Amino acid sequence: MIDQKIPLPRHVGIIMDGNGRWATKRGLSRSMGHKAGAKALKKLCKHLLKLEIPYLSVFAFSTENFKRDKEEVDYLMNLFITMFQTEFSFLKDEQVRVVFSGRREPLPVDVLKTMDQITEETKDNERATLNVCLNYGGQSELVDATKKVVQLVQEGNLKIDELNENNFAQYLYQDLPPLDFVIRTSGEMRISNFMLWQASYAEFYFPDVLFPDFTPKEFDKAILEFQKRDRRFGGVKK
Ligand code: FPP
Repeated sequence: MIDQKIPLPRHVGIIMDGNGRWATKRGLSRSMGHKAGAKALKKLCKHLLKLEIPYLSVFAFSTENFKRDKEEVDYLMNLFITMFQTEFSFLKDEQVRVVFSGRREPLPVDVLKTMDQITEETKDNERATLNVCLNYGGQSELVDATKKVVQLVQEGNLKIDELNENNFAQYLYQDLPPLDFVIRTSGEMRISNFMLWQASYAEFYFPDVLFPDFTPKEFDKAILEFQKRDRRFGGVKK
C-alpha cells in the first residue's frame, strides 16, 4: 500500500517499452502489442487520477519510430486516432487536459486533426495533464526551442540575458514542471532521447515488466521505490 504521507511524484514520465516483445511472446503481431499497450495506458491514467498525480508524460512515438515497417507505423497512427476518439475520451469527463509534444511534420493529416481536436476540447481542464510525446525527440525539442529563442532575440522581443534555467521551459513544446520520476518498462536501461531537459533531476526506475503488463499494481511498486529515494538535487542532506 502506498503511504500517502510520503510525497508522491508530481510529474511522472513513462517510456512504454516492450509492446512488440509482449506480442511476439504470445505469437501475435507487434500491432497487437501496441493495442494491449494502449489498454494498459488507459488503466494507468485512471490510477494516477486516483492517486492525484497531476502530470503524466508518455512516450508514444519517437521520431526514430518512423524507421519501422510501414504496416506497424500505419497501425500505430490509426491506433492514436481511434484511441483518442473512443477509449481515451474519458479524459474529457475526468477533467484531464491533453497536450502533445513533438514535431507535426510528417504526421498524417488525420492524426494531426485528432490531436488538435482533443487538445481543443480539453484545454480548459485543470484536474491533471496528460502529455503525449508523439513524433518526439528530446534533442529535436531542444533544437526547436533554441530556434524559437534565436528568432525572438533577432526580432528584438527577447534579450539574451533574460534567458535562464528557470524560464527556458516556456520555449519547449510544452511548459510543464520538471519530471520527478521516469519509468522505462521492459528492463532496458536507456533514456532514448525522452524529455532530456525535463528529466535532469528525475529519479529513474527500470522494471523488468513489458509495458502491456505494467498494471496499476506494478505502478504502486514503482511508487514505493520512488518514496525510498533520497532526492538531494545536487545538495547535501541536512
Ligand atoms: C515501444 O515498444 C512502444 C511504442 C513504440 C508504442 C507505444 C504506444 C502505445 C502504448 C499506444 C499508446 C496509445 C495512445 C493513445 C497514446 P516496442 O514496440 O519498441 O517494443 P519492443 O521493444 O518489445 O519491440
